[in-house]
Amino acid sequence: MEQTARIAVFISGSGSNLQALIDGSKAGILSGKIVWVVSNRAKAYGLTRAENEGIETFVFKPKKYPSPEAAAEDLLNKLRERKIDYITLAGYMKLLPSSVVAAYDKRIVNIHPALLPKYGGKGMYGHHVHEAVLASGDKESGVTVHLVDEIYDHGKILEQMRVPVLPDDTPESLAARVLEQEHKLYPRALNKLIRGEYGVNNG
Ligand code: GRF
Repeated sequence: MEQTARIAVFISGSGSNLQALIDGSKAGILSGKIVWVVSNRAKAYGLTRAENEGIETFVFKPKKYPSPEAAAEDLLNKLRERKIDYITLAGYMKLLPSSVVAAYDKRIVNIHPALLPKYGGKGMYGHHVHEAVLASGDKESGVTVHLVDEIYDHGKILEQMRVPVLPDDTPESLAARVLEQEHKLYPRALNKLIRGEYGVNNG
């Protein structure tokens, strides 16, 4: 089972973490295969990355369905049809439908560019996170990989990596330093989850 874990990655933007997961899978760091990439934005560059790798993609727009329930049902059916074992959020800017969160309890992870529980929650994404860190005067920031529940940036923390804040940092320079560590941490953390090394029930 663990060699063939089937992974869906949800994105909204550049997809550099998606790329790190694909590369990690190819390199054998991640014992699983990225088989589906879902984006809420049709123009997300991560979709091009997926297509370049021959990975199936899907643009999920809940508002195009008659109701939120119908959207959630379609997404869940599609996940099941593809026999997805794990969902990985990589810059996905929306909340997953609660039926999907329930169906994949403890099998959904997210990566956040700060040391949660600091600098998390609704509205804390992208440059907002790094601006808040710099404004606080904190001497370090970092990366958090956590399980996903129905609240933004809230589920059990699986892994953290610290990154120094330098005196002349801008939000962009800090973001770049943090992102570099994200790419290292995410494939390894997902691998550990798949291998049952966090002691959480994988269902
Ligand atoms: C990353 O900083 C991630 O931590 C956050 O969104 C960003 C996504 O970047 N959740 P990318 O699309 O993977 O390049």
